[in-house]
Amino acid sequence: MNRSELPRAGVMGWPVKHSRSPRLHGYWLKKYGIAGSYTHVPTPPEDFAAALKRLVDEGWRGANVTIPHKEAALALADEATERARAIGAANTLLIGDDGRIRADNTDAFGFIENLKELAGACWDREKPALVLGAGGAARAVIHALLEEGAPEVRLANRTAARAEALAEAFGARVRVIDWPMAETVLPGAGLIVNTTSLGMAGQPPLTLDLLGADDAAVATDIVYTPLITPFLAAAAARGLKTVDGLGMLLHQGRPGFAAWFGVDPKVDEGLRAAMLAP
Ligand code: ATR
Repeated sequence: MNRSELPRAGVMGWPVKHSRSPRLHGYWLKKYGIAGSYTHVPTPPEDFAAALKRLVDEGWRGANVTIPHKEAALALADEATERARAIGAANTLLIGDDGRIRADNTDAFGFIENLKELAGACWDREKPALVLGAGGAARAVIHALLEEGAPEVRLANRTAARAEALAEAFGARVRVIDWPMAETVLPGAGLIVNTTSLGMAGQPPLTLDLLGADDAAVATDIVYTPLITPFLAAAAARGLKTVDGLGMLLHQGRPGFAAWFGVDPKVDEGLRAAMLAP
């Protein structure tokens, strides 16, 4: 099998037809004039292992994996990056010429690159961060913030046990805050991150009174449908610097694209527009 001919990759998920990853990678394939393909790979949970083997047998370069396969992908891979193991899930699989599968997680990378690009010097990394939510996305965000040297992550989640579990996994710099008390730990936080699904189209909004936030705090949301969530709108009205969540999706795609197609792609305005088009 020759993996160098017509490089192929795709996104495995169930359901997966809503995924915008083919649009993301398709934009870059066109921009860089690469004769490769990136497609939806609808994969029911019971078929995941067999589907992955088919990709290996057919010479694919790899895949993104999304819900509900992120943990299974990590477990099935022959090897994994340190960050994938720390986050406990994979979103990117690289298939080597020998057919070995390497699992990576680029969500933390995407989160940080987006913040660096859009908040720049406004984001004071020396200050504690407040993270709302304790699901899979929160794991990537917390890993990213600790890697960047955050002195403290204040973590509030509706279900306290999930926050406690993350604090246990990530260590002493993660401090669990009771969900109804989140507003009381806004003072001193340099960054406020929503990782819950609140504010997503069809979901209730995140209602956090930002009055007590520092004027210099940056607010960011990993939800990007809508682009300006009620939380980000409230933060902007409060005068805070805001960073929407679309860039996290765009930047998390870069390492996979680079590995599969051989170019480190750029996130540009054309890409943002393409992703937001109906
Ligand atoms: P993901 O992997 O995308 O992070 P998830 O694991 O389903 O998704 O996590 C969703 C997050 O949104 C959780 O933190 C969840 O809180 P619980 O752990 O208490 O379920 C949070 N969330 C969802 N609906 C919420 C609501 N109505 N109020 C508060 N938090 C909510």
